[in-house]
Amino acid sequence: MKLTYTLLLLVSLSLMMNGCDQHQSQSDRARIIRDFDNNWKFHLGDTTNASGTAFNDTNWRTLNVPHDWSIEGKFSKDNPAGAGGGALPGGIGWYRKTFSLEKENRGKKVFIDFDGIYHNSEVWINGHYLGKRPNGYISFQYDLTPYVHFGDSTNLIAVKVDNSNQPNSRWYSGSGIYRNVRLELTSPIHISHWGTHITTPEVSNENALVRVTTQVTNDSKESKKITLRTTLFNQTGTKVGETDNEKEIASGETASVDQQFHIQQPELWSIDSPTLYKSVSQVISDNKIIDDKTVPFGIRYFHFDAQKGFSLNGVPMKINGVCMHHDLGCLGAAVNTRAIQRQLEILKGAGVNAIRTSHNPPAPELLQLCDQMGFIVMDEAFDMWKKQKTKYDYSHDWDKWHKQDLTDQILRDRNHPSVMIWSIGNEIPEQWDSTGTSIARELAGIVHQYDTTRPITSACNDPQPGNSIIKSGALDLIGYNYHHQLYASFPDSFPGQKFIATETVSSLQTRGSYDMPSDSIRLWPKRWDLPEKGNPDYTCSSYDNCHAPWGSTHEETLKLIEKYDFLSGQFIWTGFDYLGEPTPYTWPARSSYFGIVDLAGFPKDAYYLYQSEWTNKPVLHIFPHWNWKKGQTIDVWAYTNCDEVELFLNGKSMGVRKKTGDKLHLMWRLTYEPGTLKAVGKKDGKVILTKEIQTAGKPYRLQLTVDRPQIHADGKDLAFVTVNVVDQNGTLVPHADNLVRFKVNGEATIAGVDNGSETSHEPFKANYRHAFNGKCLIVLQSDGKPGNIYLTASAEGLPDAKVTLTAQ
Ligand code: GAL
Repeated sequence: MKLTYTLLLLVSLSLMMNGCDQHQSQSDRARIIRDFDNNWKFHLGDTTNASGTAFNDTNWRTLNVPHDWSIEGKFSKDNPAGAGGGALPGGIGWYRKTFSLEKENRGKKVFIDFDGIYHNSEVWINGHYLGKRPNGYISFQYDLTPYVHFGDSTNLIAVKVDNSNQPNSRWYSGSGIYRNVRLELTSPIHISHWGTHITTPEVSNENALVRVTTQVTNDSKESKKITLRTTLFNQTGTKVGETDNEKEIASGETASVDQQFHIQQPELWSIDSPTLYKSVSQVISDNKIIDDKTVPFGIRYFHFDAQKGFSLNGVPMKINGVCMHHDLGCLGAAVNTRAIQRQLEILKGAGVNAIRTSHNPPAPELLQLCDQMGFIVMDEAFDMWKKQKTKYDYSHDWDKWHKQDLTDQILRDRNHPSVMIWSIGNEIPEQWDSTGTSIARELAGIVHQYDTTRPITSACNDPQPGNSIIKSGALDLIGYNYHHQLYASFPDSFPGQKFIATETVSSLQTRGSYDMPSDSIRLWPKRWDLPEKGNPDYTCSSYDNCHAPWGSTHEETLKLIEKYDFLSGQFIWTGFDYLGEPTPYTWPARSSYFGIVDLAGFPKDAYYLYQSEWTNKPVLHIFPHWNWKKGQTIDVWAYTNCDEVELFLNGKSMGVRKKTGDKLHLMWRLTYEPGTLKAVGKKDGKVILTKEIQTAGKPYRLQLTVDRPQIHADGKDLAFVTVNVVDQNGTLVPHADNLVRFKVNGEATIAGVDNGSETSHEPFKANYRHAFNGKCLIVLQSDGKPGNIYLTASAEGLPDAKVTLTAQ
C-alpha cells in the first residue's frame, strides 16, 4: 500500500514537474520561464536611493529567495508583533537583483511573477516605479517590457518590503520575498496571465466533458490571425484530445477561445488516487508556435448535500480536515516545496484529507502538492474585511484592494482539482452588522465572475440565521467555527442548508507533557481576551484534557462529526503548531499549542487518535512515557482501532479494555512502578499489535533518523534529521534537554533547528539546539552541488552521532 502510494506520488510528481512551467525543458518551449530566486542582494533596514540603478549594493548580503528575515531574528517580548505575532522582529527590508536579457530575446514581452511578498511591497525596474502591493499573501505580476534592456546593458529590480507597522496579523507572518519569483518571456501575442480556465461541466465514470477557455492577448502592433491548439494528456503522457481554433485578434485586444473535449473512461481525481491530466495550449502564428502554457487539472465531481453531507465522485465521505497557517516552523514563512510536502505527508499519515488555508491564499506549491497528493482544499481569502482585528492589518487596505486581491486569488487557484471550497473570510466582525450582508454579496459576486463550480462559505463565529453574512444568502455552504453544541440543532435552525464545520476543537497540547488526572478538563484561558496562568512551565497537557473554552476536546467534536451525516466534515484547529498565538499563554510562550503535530513536525498523542479513526492501518498508541515517581497514580491511555487491548505492567495484567460504544480511547489508572508497560491489541480475537514502553534510564546516546537519505542537489531540497536522546536500551529519555551541537560538512547547509517547544528562545538559524522532551530536529538544505553530506551531532558526556546523506 505504502509502495503504491509512493509510486503514485512519484509518477504524479514527475508529471507535475512537466506540467509545472518553471521545470519544463526550455528547448521545446516558446514561452521562457526562469526561476528568479537566486542571487538577490538584501539589506535589512530602510535606505535612500536603493530603488535606482546608480545605488551601490556591493556591501549588501547576497541571498536566494524565498527569504524571511523575521525568522533570522531574535525573540523578544519587545518586538512589536508581540507574542501573538511570534515575538520576532519585523521592520523594513530592501532586495535588489541585477540581471541581463539576451539580445536574441529583444522584442519579447518580459514579466516578473511574485508568488507573495509580506508585505507592502514596492517594486522598481531600472528606477521606474511599478507599483505597490499591500497584501502579503497575494500573487502578482508586473510587466517589465517598456523598461528593460536587452544585450550588454544590465537591468535592476529593486523591491522594498515594509513590515514595520505591527501588529498587523494575529499570527506570525514572516517578512520579505518569502515566496518564489519567476521571470517570464513571451511573444507579444501570448496567453494572458492566469488566462487559462479549465472546468469539467460533465463527469461520469464513462465520460467527461472538459472545457478549456483561454485568453490570448495581442500586444503586437497589428491585428493577427492565430491558431490556438490545445492538447490534453493523461497521467502517463498519452494524448487524449486535441483541438485547433483560429482567431483574429486586433492589436491591443484580448480574445477568449473556448475549446471542448470529450474524454472516455476518465481517470477520476480522488483522495486515494489523485490522477492529474494536463492541458498544453499553444499559440500558433505563421506556422510557428509563438507561445504556450501548460496547466495541470483533474477530473472529478463533488457534492454537498443538506442531509447526506459531502461526496466525491458519488462516494460519500467526510472531510477530515485541518487548518494550517503558512509558516514552516524553523524555516519561518520562506516557502520550500519539500517542507510543505513533509507537512502533508505527516498529516496524511493521520488520515487527514483536507486543508484549510487559514486565513489567506496559500503558496501555489501547497495547492500543487494537494493536487498531487490527494487533499481537498478550502481556499480562504481574508481574516478581516473593513473592520480591523489588529491595529495595522489589511482593513486599512480593504477599500482599495479587496476586489483585486480576491479576483487574483480566484484566477490563480481555480484550475486546481484539490480546491473545492472558497472561503470569503474568517470570523469577520461585519457578521454583526448590516454591512456583512452587502460585503458578502459583493465578494460572492466577484468569486462567481471567475468560478461558478465551487461553493462559497465563510467561517462564521456567530452561528445563527440572523448573522448578517449568513442572512445575505451569499453562502452556498453555512460554515461556522466551534459551537459544536449547536451541531445537532443545525437542520432546525437552517432548514435545507448545507453545513461544513470550518473550524473546530482548539485543544491545547505540549508534546510529551501530561497533567493528571487525565479525565479532568482544563478550560484555558478562562477569558478569551486574557492569558492564562496555567502551568508554571507554560505547558499544556497532551491527554486531550486541555482546550480553549470556545472549543472542545478532540474527541468531543470528532464524535459529533461522525454521528451526523449532514455534517460534511471539519477543519481542526490546527494540523501543525504555528508561530504566534500561544493561547492560553503569552510571552515567554511564542508559538501555538493547537497542533496535533508540534512545530518541529513531531506528532503529539492526539495525532494517533485521528490515525486510529481515519485510517485503515492497525493503530495502537499508548501513552504517557514511563518515568514517574514510585507510587504515583498514572493514567495510561491507548488510541487504537483494535477491538480490545490488554495492558501488562512488568508482566502482570492490568486488565482488558474494549473499544465499545463511542469510546475513542481506552484508559487504565495504575500505581506507578518502574519497568515495562506492554499493551497487546486484538482484533476478532487475534493479537494484531503489541506495543511496549519502558522506563528510560540516563541519556546514553543520540539517535539520528533521516526522513530521506538522498536529496536533490538543487540548492532547495531539504533533509529533516530527527535527534532522539535515548538510554542504553534505545528508549527515548522523556525529559531529556541535552544541548545538541551540529557539525555539517559536504554539500549542505543548516536551514534551521527546532525542538517543538513553545517557549524556547533559542534561534532557529543555529548549529545547536537543546532537546525538548527528548527530541530535536535539524533541517539540512542542499547547497546546489552533488555529493555527500556529513552530519555530526554531539552532546556533552555522550558519544558523537553521525549520519551521511547524499545530494544527487
Ligand atoms: C479562532 C480563529 C483562529 C484562531 C483560533 C484559536 O477563533 O479563527 O484564527 O485564533 O480561534 O483558537
